[in-house]
Amino acid sequence: MVKGDIAFTSSKDKLDIYEDAYLIVEDGQVVKISKNLEESYKDYPVEDYTSKLIIPGFIDIHLHAPQYPNMGLGLDKELIPWLETYTFPEEEKYGDLEYSRRVFTRLINDLWRFGTTRSVVFASIHKESTKLLMDLFVESGLGAYVGKVNMDRNTKKELTEDTNQSILDTEEIIKEYNDKSDLVKPIITPRFVPTCTEGLLEALGNLAIKYKVPVQSHLNENTSEVIWVKELFPNSKNYASVYDDYNLFGQTKTIMAHCIYNTDEEIDLMAQNGVYAAHCPYSNYNLSSGIMPLRKFLDKGVPVGLASDISGGNSLSMMRIIAGAIQASKMKWLGTEKELAPLSFSEAFYLATKGGGSFFGKVGSFEEGYDFDALIIDDSPLTGIKDLTIEERLQKFIYIGDDRNIIERYVKGRKVRKPF
Ligand code: GUN
Ligand code: FE
Repeated sequence: MVKGDIAFTSSKDKLDIYEDAYLIVEDGQVVKISKNLEESYKDYPVEDYTSKLIIPGFIDIHLHAPQYPNMGLGLDKELIPWLETYTFPEEEKYGDLEYSRRVFTRLINDLWRFGTTRSVVFASIHKESTKLLMDLFVESGLGAYVGKVNMDRNTKKELTEDTNQSILDTEEIIKEYNDKSDLVKPIITPRFVPTCTEGLLEALGNLAIKYKVPVQSHLNENTSEVIWVKELFPNSKNYASVYDDYNLFGQTKTIMAHCIYNTDEEIDLMAQNGVYAAHCPYSNYNLSSGIMPLRKFLDKGVPVGLASDISGGNSLSMMRIIAGAIQASKMKWLGTEKELAPLSFSEAFYLATKGGGSFFGKVGSFEEGYDFDALIIDDSPLTGIKDLTIEERLQKFIYIGDDRNIIERYVKGRKVRKPF
């Protein structure tokens, strides 16, 4: 049981706030929140966080672990030249397990530091390095979906997989890791359509269905990429339908990153198939990709989460990304003659918690039955000048706070210490 000032979003429209309240946790799950402690709970041990904020852990639904050493580098380029100049040469290095370990322990420590309790992660094409990343996540106590990247064309020779080997390696990881941990799971990860042959896409869709494994990829990020996909698949209706034709678009739980240039038909297909959009506002600025028309996705009922897209994005902080998503939505609002309404604070907070968290199950909220994934925030250095409501304190933390304000992290009811 914890006690403090509790804030979360059970729905997008408003914050649920409980001032100076008790939150009761049993078997890692939220049982109830109450202002006064009932007799039956009197003997429960209490972690007393009076005057601190208690909020759900953040969820980052799209980032690339092997790109972590590149964070902040080469962001004056557009997507395809950036991939060729910076990203592919870095991703080549992960045949080296010592280097992999150095990068991944640092990344996981930093995810912990910034309060990202669950994430959905691309590894590289390398099987052993991907397994190491999964093992390190298990060791850390943080939750993650981790995918070995598949690509068998249109990249550097060193990163071009043999199609059969790519499928065999992916299946091996699925078999080994599908039931190994309840917090760390495999996810099928075709990089994006341009780097995958039809044979590879077809085999990956079959694996997804055979083993009931989720899928992640990229969709409609950049105008040159969209044209390239049209050239590669002239007979497909659109970019999304290439994935859909191969059972990689919601046939099992699926996340598509970016979705900036989706047609209305593609947005409808995402809504129909329950495909998640990962909104990556910083990456979309850095690589001159564009601004996703997020409001259209929300209005049509597409599930949405927020994401850092390291290293297209330049910050792991979901606080910054929540603020960035609101800022991006305001620029979009202006650019569409005020048709697509900007995000409210509660909507953006929801997307970074319950929105992305729903990909993991009952995660990202403090409603009954949800996993108790939580952050304890000491916002006292940010306040004290004038009286603030709990919602205002949360706004301050999101806009001007940083990792120093996060004093504890919980995942499934367990306190998680600095992993490495
Ligand atoms: N599209 C294909 N690969 C990538 C990647 O690594 N990052 C981003 N932002 N887009 C991609
Ligand atoms: Fe990405």
